[in-house]
Amino acid sequence: MRPDAPLAWAALLGEARTRVDAGVPLEVRGTLTRLTGLVLEAVGIRVPVGSQCWIGAPGDKPVLAEVVGFAGDRAFLMPAGDIQGLSSGASVVPAAPYVPPPALGAAPRPAPGPGVLRLPLGDGLLGRVVDAQGFALDHAGALLGVAAQPMGRRQINAMDRDPVREPLDTGVRAINALLTVGRGQRLGLFAGSGVGKSVLLGMMARYTQADVIVVGLIGERGREVKEFIEDILGPEGRRRAVVVAAPADAPPLLRMQGAAYATAVAEHFRDKGRHVLLLMDSLTRYAMAQREIALAIGEPPATKGYPPSCFAKLPQLVERSGNGLNGVGSITAFYTVLSEGDDQQDPIADAARAILDGHIVLSRSLAEAGHFPAIDIEQSASRVMHNVIPRTHMERARRFRALYSRYQKSRDLVQVGAYMAGSDPELDEAIRLLPAMERFLQQDMFESASMAQSTSALAAVLES
Ligand SMILES: Nc1ncnc2c1ncn2[C@@H]1O[C@H](COP(=O)(O)OP(=O)(O)OP(=O)(O)O)[C@@H](O)[C@H]1O
Ligand SMILES: [Mg+2]
Repeated sequence: MRPDAPLAWAALLGEARTRVDAGVPLEVRGTLTRLTGLVLEAVGIRVPVGSQCWIGAPGDKPVLAEVVGFAGDRAFLMPAGDIQGLSSGASVVPAAPYVPPPALGAAPRPAPGPGVLRLPLGDGLLGRVVDAQGFALDHAGALLGVAAQPMGRRQINAMDRDPVREPLDTGVRAINALLTVGRGQRLGLFAGSGVGKSVLLGMMARYTQADVIVVGLIGERGREVKEFIEDILGPEGRRRAVVVAAPADAPPLLRMQGAAYATAVAEHFRDKGRHVLLLMDSLTRYAMAQREIALAIGEPPATKGYPPSCFAKLPQLVERSGNGLNGVGSITAFYTVLSEGDDQQDPIADAARAILDGHIVLSRSLAEAGHFPAIDIEQSASRVMHNVIPRTHMERARRFRALYSRYQKSRDLVQVGAYMAGSDPELDEAIRLLPAMERFLQQDMFESASMAQSTSALAAVLES
């Protein structure tokens, strides 16, 4: 017998007793019992919602899954990978760092906790393209200068946030002059398909005065990811950008995780005092991913098939962007929202309009007429504009809108020649300025217009 054996036994029994007293099981392992559609059901395991588990039979490549709900003793999980090949009876183990049960002679270890998701964050992400799990997609080698960080949601006390006070130069004339964006503002970009969302986001990514651009490509076509990065962002935009891509064929859990990860990357840079521009394409696809998950685990659908949890998730995501604590960095965010035609009934568009501080509406009829960026000035609004620009600028913007909208209201009359010049001086002025106003609103995708250029162009239009 080894001379230290009694001591080692005493230590082992002591550790085992502490664990038993604390109610910590020696090993946590559940069994997969059911798979319906997207949802995995496991028994014999008690893990908190939001934690990660590995699922697989011994010898198979395990699949990562997240706990998304429970009912009695059954836990519901959503896979983050391909579930092809999983079979009933596979083991379900929390993805926490493995902590072996106490063993004779081994040093005491902390008990295993729930597996929290950790993803790479760090300055090494700049210039890189990653997927929702933090793996590089750009064939540029492993990520350097990053560390795995827990993905918990950190809330900022609303009273500690800086208000939006400073204008942000987006490089887009119509936005700078008529829909001025403030640093830390959150806006929606409402549009149907193919009316120029990606091109407009790309222009902002290239020309906005920000230290870091974070782009979340969520639930869009896979082909678009490459196109966006190579053609629209270009090498110039890419240098200061981080792209997180979770395309349409990724499991719904990863599409949601992609949006959360992109936001976490933006928070990382904001907390270092940088001014970040977060471009999320699209918020609707994020809500749709949540709809898939919620319906699959049995939440009843409410508005247009969206269960209530979808509407709760939107503000949780959006509230994470904005200004940081007392002057340290900011996240100005644009979320695209799919809204076809004049469909004001779309529940996601409705919910988004309520939680964002402004909306830019792209119009299909403008795009069809070759008017780009196809921003519908009459329908768009920036709710912080009056806080961030001087009075004279605000007055001019108001005058421009009034004239433009005056013309639009009487457009049919004017075009069929039913309007007699001279009978309405305001309309005469609008008709006279229309060509200049239209030229002002249009901008080539490779042209940038600084804030100073935009405001002087606005003055020039009104004084012409
Ligand atoms: N500023 C611009 N100048 C010239 N052409 C533009 C401009 N913006 C958009 N376009 C044209 O509109 C087309 C569609 O634009 P884009 O791909 O950005 O639309 P989208 O709304 O992202 O479409 P989808 O819904 O399919 O993703 C482009 O291929 C381009 O030809
Ligand atoms: Mg697009």
